[in-house]
Amino acid sequence: MSKKNLVISYASYSQLEELPPKDRELAERAQASQALSYAPYSHFRVGAAIRLQDGRLIGNANQENAAYSMCLCAERTALATAASIAPGVCISAIAVTASAERKLVSPCGACRQVLNETEIAQGSAIQIILQGDEGGWLVFDSAKDILPFPFSPENLSGTTH
Ligand code: THU
Repeated sequence: MSKKNLVISYASYSQLEELPPKDRELAERAQASQALSYAPYSHFRVGAAIRLQDGRLIGNANQENAAYSMCLCAERTALATAASIAPGVCISAIAVTASAERKLVSPCGACRQVLNETEIAQGSAIQIILQGDEGGWLVFDSAKDILPFPFSPENLSGTTH
């Protein structure tokens, strides 16, 4: 037996104004996208914005339902919107914010799984920009950085039919 350590690197900014201009622009688009949220149950309005490799920005938000398990997260509505508006165009970054200001917005496990697979399918990293505690922001270079030990397409290889 051996003990192993996992190290996750990310950039930490203490305020929005500190982010590089393109990242700040995307974070602000995510904040503006909170207006698209339908969250009558949680009142937790999440906005997500995607930067495409061709420079276009696409925003969307969480969509809830009286049948709670039908709720759609902002990250996945934004990914689906991007897939519809710009099919086949790679995603370079996603920013995520919420109406609970000054609190960390941490994508749920399902969204991490989908971001990881999107990254694998397009063959290039997706930068992850998250609203952090106390007005700060966290920037990860890749979806892989927020999903250790993912279940990926390669886990299915070797399956017998
Ligand atoms: N939510 C997101 O949109 N993204 C996340 O990563 C976490 C949770 C939404 C789902 C639901 O509408 C509300 O936040 C409360 O869980």
